Amino acid sequence: MRYPDLEGVRVRVPATTANLGSGFDTIGLALTLYNFYDVIGVDEPGAYKVEVIGEGSSELSDEASNLVIQSYEKACRKWGIEPPGLSLRCLNAIPLCRGLGSSASAVAGGVLLANAVRDEPLPVEKLLPVMVAIEGHPDNVVPCCLGGLVVSCVDGEELRYVKLPPPPERITAVVAVPDVQVRTEDARKVLPKQVDMNDAVFSLNRAALLAASWAAGKWENLPWAMDDRLHQPFRSKLFPGGDRILDAVKTVRNCLGVAISGSGPSVLAIAQGTPGDVAEAMCRVFSENGVRSRFFVLNVDEEGASLDDVPPERNAREVA
Ligand code: HSE
Repeated sequence: MRYPDLEGVRVRVPATTANLGSGFDTIGLALTLYNFYDVIGVDEPGAYKVEVIGEGSSELSDEASNLVIQSYEKACRKWGIEPPGLSLRCLNAIPLCRGLGSSASAVAGGVLLANAVRDEPLPVEKLLPVMVAIEGHPDNVVPCCLGGLVVSCVDGEELRYVKLPPPPERITAVVAVPDVQVRTEDARKVLPKQVDMNDAVFSLNRAALLAASWAAGKWENLPWAMDDRLHQPFRSKLFPGGDRILDAVKTVRNCLGVAISGSGPSVLAIAQGTPGDVAEAMCRVFSENGVRSRFFVLNVDEEGASLDDVPPERNAREVA
């Protein structure tokens, strides 16, 4: 059997930073750093081949545990489709287990590929709940698919979300990525089961202020708005330098706000103008704590995930 619609399809998915401090499990932002999942061939059901180039090349090539394949299979089966086997080439630029939404990109990619198998592909709003159910929280997969800064709310299988307007060009996202990994699963285990009412109100104030300030362009509010007491105080202990990096970067010239990116250990600053001092301050704290790090200066991706054709005549090295 042949599936001509699927063969030669390329899914492009952006990195995402979730929470932005106060918006725990609620607010997420898509960034201009991408993974590409290329369908090189289509095969009999159950026959998978995965090649990973770039981030995770030594960890993700096992077909059975590859999250793109798992999500593709789950979505197909949910829709009663026998999933055709795939030969998949993943060109990965999103660092793994660093709080930049690499798993959400894989989930979104797999579900989008499954959608391409359908006789009548579903619109993205019908795909998002499927992705959220696989990922467990909405604040990476929703901005990954829609682009931009998105506020999401889940109730059972229902999902509500609002995408906020794009920031002005002078606003950038500076991300410092240390050479240590933290699995989201582990970063969720350290969170308390119950929180103090004062801390809940503190974080609620900031999350609402963050969404309102982003929508209104009140960037001067971000130092307050990205603060939280629900997860960062606990997660900051999970990586070297985590206990002081936010305070050290907050006051640096051109830094508007800073937070642990997703569940960490990367750190995200929203900066304006020239972001060099911000990047340097973040990497310096990691270095002083004995960890190598790299940084990215990124823009907000406003497009979200997309499906195209694999470009002809381009080999993996050129694309990566
Ligand atoms: N909101 C999730 C968390 C994001 O903080 O656990 C994980 O990437």
